[in-house]
Amino acid sequence: NTELEKSSVVIAGGGSTYTPGIILMLLEHLDRFPLRKIKFYDNDPQRQKVIADACEIMIHKKHPEIEFLATCDPEEAFTDVDFVMAHIRVGKYKMRELDEKIPLKYGVVGQETCGPGGIAYGMRSIQGVLELVDYMEKYSPDAWLLNYSNPAAIVAEATRRLRPKSKILNICDMPISIENNMLKILGYEKRSDIITQYYGLNHFGWWYGVRSRDGKDLMPELKKHVKEMGYFIPSDADEAKQHGDSSWNETYRMAKDIYAIDPDTLPNTYLKYYLLPDTVVKHSDINYTRANQVMDTREKEVFTACREIAKNNAFEGHELSLDEHASYIVDLATALKFNTYARMLLIVENNGVIENFDKTAMVEVPCLVTSSGPQPLSVGTIPTFQKGMMEEQAAVEKLVVDAWMEGSYQKLWQAIALSKTVPSVTVAKQILDDLYEVNKEYWPELK
Ligand code: NAD
Ligand code: LMR
Repeated sequence: NTELEKSSVVIAGGGSTYTPGIILMLLEHLDRFPLRKIKFYDNDPQRQKVIADACEIMIHKKHPEIEFLATCDPEEAFTDVDFVMAHIRVGKYKMRELDEKIPLKYGVVGQETCGPGGIAYGMRSIQGVLELVDYMEKYSPDAWLLNYSNPAAIVAEATRRLRPKSKILNICDMPISIENNMLKILGYEKRSDIITQYYGLNHFGWWYGVRSRDGKDLMPELKKHVKEMGYFIPSDADEAKQHGDSSWNETYRMAKDIYAIDPDTLPNTYLKYYLLPDTVVKHSDINYTRANQVMDTREKEVFTACREIAKNNAFEGHELSLDEHASYIVDLATALKFNTYARMLLIVENNGVIENFDKTAMVEVPCLVTSSGPQPLSVGTIPTFQKGMMEEQAAVEKLVVDAWMEGSYQKLWQAIALSKTVPSVTVAKQILDDLYEVNKEYWPELK
């Protein structure tokens, strides 16, 4: 029983609503991913302080041996770290709300990562994530940056082009949430009980195989369930957990209608924004979008609970819950640190993994994760329907990065117009002009 080497991590976006749940999760997994130091980094000191004061108590009550520091100084934050775990939201919820409401004004899907809202968010996020990469390379050049800041697809394309040698890995939790529902549908316990085959872009993909450890084909049973009720689990209806609140149940149900168009595969739930945009818009309330919902629930709850913990200097009876579904971040860090060859879905450069698809596109595919990085597993050729959709969407993502690099209004207009969520170049231009107006502080100047 050799002792595992301890790591030092910095959480970038320390003030995030997800931070306390991730801290509790990290503390739960110390036996396989031991820590010597946890640091928080954010560019909003007030916001970070509320979360950090509570997390310091959470950490030190149980693990006084772990060093803790919250800072807005990049040098302090990024010196002596092995991993940067990044979940920043450039522009915070105030801007997310606009990303959602501006497209809706024109009858177009208003969403955090899909369609024009996701494009606007991408134009803000690129700079923020590049900054994190640069701080890491300056102060801890051997570290890995594990990014789950959204929109991951656009961020990944930007870092591929602008920081091609950097040790950054982009990962998403949505397929994991859906696979957790698959487990419940099938009556299995752990994610490692099933082996899944998946391809796509981030927030834009399909499962084409699900098997048990001993090789049983589980697709027929899953398809039967999805055909009837999507990924919805009737017994989950009352659970108001993350990805389990009523809007998520609705999302899980809608997988039924996305599945119908291609019964050979099982879809990622995000495809509803591209394949059922009319239904989505009809069910949206321009006066109360997901941003409002999160501000009124998760954000309020997390900040209230953190203030309470700090006030009482006690951690008992608090309302924060351990974010076990985020343990994929530990799986990834452990694989890189200890060379576990864990099989995980990551966003990587295609480079032939999907044979009949752009080599330079960032795709989401299963990889074996080793200490020198991910080794993607070959997918082979994909069908025309998926290929066509992915080509259009990958072009949108590339055009956003072109627009950001060149400061090109024209390219950004093309990106928005090409999104499957947008009906015409006229509407695209109206949305772009409104989004540009409110994003001046965050986007590069467009000419
Ligand atoms: P949030 O607004 O609560 O937190 C984001 C934090 O990032 C804020 O404290 C903000 O001040 C900080 N920030 C913004 N720009 C920054 C910059 N340039 N440098 C440093 N810090 C900066 O947002 P949230 O709802 O907690 O989400 C955070 C991100 O995580 C989003 O991109 C979200 O899509 C993504 N996400 C994470 C998970 C997960 O499993 N952890 C799941 C879904 C989405
Ligand atoms: C959230 O705030 O729950 C998001 O991360 C996911 C979403 O699409 O709302």
